[in-house]
Amino acid sequence: MCGIIGILGNHQVAPQLVEALKRLEYRGYDSAGVATIDDSGKLDRRRAVGKLVNLSDRLVTEPLAGRSGIGHTRWATHGAATEVNAHPHKRGQVAVVHNGIIENFRELREELVAAGYAPETETDTETVAMLTAKYLDDGLSPVEAARATLKRLHGAFALAFLFDAHGDLMIAARKGSPLAVGHGDSEMFVGSDAIALAPFTDRISYLEEGDHVILTRDGAEFFDAEGRPANREIAQIDVGATAIDKGGYRHFMAKEIAQQPAVLGDVLNHYIKDGRIVLPDSIDFRDVDRLTLVACGTAYLAGYVAKYWFEKLAGLPCDLDVASEFRYREPPLSEKSWGIFISQSGETADTLAALHYASGKVARTLGVVNVGTSAIARDTDVALPTLAGVEVCVASSKAFTCQLAVLAVLALKAAHDRGRLNEAELAAHLDDLRSIPALVNQALSTADDCEKLAGWLSDSTDVLFLGRGPLFPVALEGALKLKELSYIHAEGYASGELKHGPIALIDQNMPVVVVAPRDALFEKTISNMQEVMARHGQVLLVSDAAGIREGGSGIRASLTMPTGGGIFQPIIYAVPMQYLAYFTAVAKGTDVDQPRNLAKSVTVE
Ligand code: F6R
Repeated sequence: MCGIIGILGNHQVAPQLVEALKRLEYRGYDSAGVATIDDSGKLDRRRAVGKLVNLSDRLVTEPLAGRSGIGHTRWATHGAATEVNAHPHKRGQVAVVHNGIIENFRELREELVAAGYAPETETDTETVAMLTAKYLDDGLSPVEAARATLKRLHGAFALAFLFDAHGDLMIAARKGSPLAVGHGDSEMFVGSDAIALAPFTDRISYLEEGDHVILTRDGAEFFDAEGRPANREIAQIDVGATAIDKGGYRHFMAKEIAQQPAVLGDVLNHYIKDGRIVLPDSIDFRDVDRLTLVACGTAYLAGYVAKYWFEKLAGLPCDLDVASEFRYREPPLSEKSWGIFISQSGETADTLAALHYASGKVARTLGVVNVGTSAIARDTDVALPTLAGVEVCVASSKAFTCQLAVLAVLALKAAHDRGRLNEAELAAHLDDLRSIPALVNQALSTADDCEKLAGWLSDSTDVLFLGRGPLFPVALEGALKLKELSYIHAEGYASGELKHGPIALIDQNMPVVVVAPRDALFEKTISNMQEVMARHGQVLLVSDAAGIREGGSGIRASLTMPTGGGIFQPIIYAVPMQYLAYFTAVAKGTDVDQPRNLAKSVTVE
């Protein structure tokens, strides 16, 4: 949530700040702003409500000069999305951009008000600028003032400070929110992630928890949480892997859905070689008594599918929880259990806090993460990359199916380690898994039918998704995708649960998407589908050709899926869920890649 950027450059920096913000816009798009110091040392800023384009337009008519600057793209937490509340916040001689939440801002503000500093905004961040301004007024130097401020802050933050008349100085700090430093040639950069810095440099250092850094054009001096000088190594990043173009597609979402056969192939090739599972040696499930799977949103639903796999294949009991509940419930955890934390960004605040809660209580923590340099990747005992590549669309698609692929490999390893699968059975399951990329490729051909169905769905106010067994979480994912992209109310239900309440909603206006491959549970789901049709519900059946032939009489529409994939079918069935949401959103004209109110990296709780 919120993206920050800072540049001490050699050229006019405003266009570079905007370019970087474009790459950070997935983190929030309620407002954007930049502040620069011009060659006379004057600190000035421009801000605009809404998408970044509004800021770029403003900079055309009201340009900002200067080679040093900071920028921000906002996902509003404290205070409405107005220009006044937009970052950078400037008080006195300092401007600040911030990602996170300052939890003690009210008490700090009271103290500042008592000292004669009146707030001008509703934000928590302004308090940081006010406090620093007060310390400057008290006679501290910029570095001392920033350090004194940082000591007073509770909560989560990535911060960058820029000071009037100090064009060769920037101070940045990290606690709970990610921050990367980019090293250029007599230029220095700081940003919420390496993707933002990729146009400028491929040499990146990451701040660790509690670090602050003092930047000049000559380099970076890092200090740890105790204020001691610290060495933070410079890593070379693969700039190609940070490319963020739509590749000819209309939206990032369309591109990312279509990329799935390729990235699933990559991730499976990484974990399965010559018919054998390749995982770090420490992944041995023989002495594990239980798993705890924790994540948020779509990543949670990947965990939900995996729960079925771990329980069925490996006979391993699984507790599953959304991170925001898990972290405060203080669940007892067995010392012989493992915790698995699933996250695309690897920065989701609740999932990270859940990981920190479990660390030391469970025998091992595993991260299933897409961003390899993220906090969850760093803080888990073993981080397993999902290798989906950069996912730009705020709604997750390829990251979800790649999470499922990694979890499927883990479930098979667990089943084999625990003697639940012999070599031949393991080989058969691995064959099923290896067939997934090709089957997902076939499933992409549901796109045309999904597009045709979008007119119907986009006219609806509510949609139900039903599934059973490991297809139940896929139904939940279908509902989640539809609501976040098209703003249509949608709910996912276990088919068998329908008659315990939600059936009351069914009438001739209610589209009901039934996700039912021709598997062992097919007949049961089809019976539930009949109950819907008996009440004039309008059914869209998503099944294979045999399933549609057998169960399809009286339905309104169908989507024909490929057969195969065995127990890993949920990965294939994710595709029409994504396309239904995508095309419905396109039909409604909503902002597909950046749906309202959302942000991709949820670094606040
Ligand atoms: C939905 C979606 C979100 C994320 C959730 C967790 O399409 O993308 O529900 O899955 O915010 O994010 P990560 O995986 O980054 O922890």
